[in-house]
Amino acid sequence: MSISALGYVVVEAADLEAWAEYGRKILGAEVNESEGALEMRVDERAWRLRVEQGPLDDLKAIGFETSTPVAFADVLASLDAQDVPYTKDIALAKARGVVELATFVDPAGVTIEVFYGATQLFQKPFVSPAGVLGFVTGDQGLGHIVIAVRDDAEYQAFWASLGFKLSDYIEFMPAPGMRAKVTFMHCNARHHSLAFAAVPHPKRIIHLMLQTQSLDDVGLALDRVKKNGVPLAWDLGRHTNDHMTSFYMLSPSKWEFEYGWGAREINDATWTVERHDSMSIWGHELKIKPEDRTHG
Ligand SMILES: [Fe+2]
Repeated sequence: MSISALGYVVVEAADLEAWAEYGRKILGAEVNESEGALEMRVDERAWRLRVEQGPLDDLKAIGFETSTPVAFADVLASLDAQDVPYTKDIALAKARGVVELATFVDPAGVTIEVFYGATQLFQKPFVSPAGVLGFVTGDQGLGHIVIAVRDDAEYQAFWASLGFKLSDYIEFMPAPGMRAKVTFMHCNARHHSLAFAAVPHPKRIIHLMLQTQSLDDVGLALDRVKKNGVPLAWDLGRHTNDHMTSFYMLSPSKWEFEYGWGAREINDATWTVERHDSMSIWGHELKIKPEDRTHG
């Protein structure tokens, strides 16, 4: 037993006011203030995305979830076996609202918070302020995160040791003259919870994905993006590997949010690893030049 889901994501952002508005109006998340930070809800969990004040405008930590104390101990044992130092943090566990938590730094330099026992608020049903019907979370976790790493083979081996399985690879040209190989890994039925590429990128995070329960919620979000002048990064399209219909927009921190619906799921008993040489079956037209992504 090992990691079972992407539990939460912590980011740092310069403009919390812009994030609060973006969270409510565009993402359709519930946004609560918590000791100078923002905590966003998209399901029955107390929170799923925490935005902390700071100059970074980038990823701060990834919260990976284990389902039981035994699975949590298994992950720590695997870190011990690889001489990866970790810290059990009682104060941080309390702050995150989880039963037990340990932090470590992964081979790409990303701070990971592995935990079990997140706070559920079934007594306070999630109500989207933008009218989103709901997001696909539950056993599949928050969604997926894609990050830039130094060495993708080393990174794949590390996460395989903590229970992630290879889904597929996409080798494609994200922009003229730029080659990228993206590795997609899963730890539950979601096609990928973690993906990564060894590409030069101005930020650690490449994108974070939220999956809606209804196709209309992707279309309605795209309407909100256009109406509110949120920069669209990649237009509506459908991915070759997870078959998700989605679009990408810039967050107030200028990294991308993918908003999608209809991904196929993985059954480990039958899944065969694939390779793709295109990111999309159709669509996903690039709307923002890579060099413009880091500017206001
Ligand atoms: Fe994605």
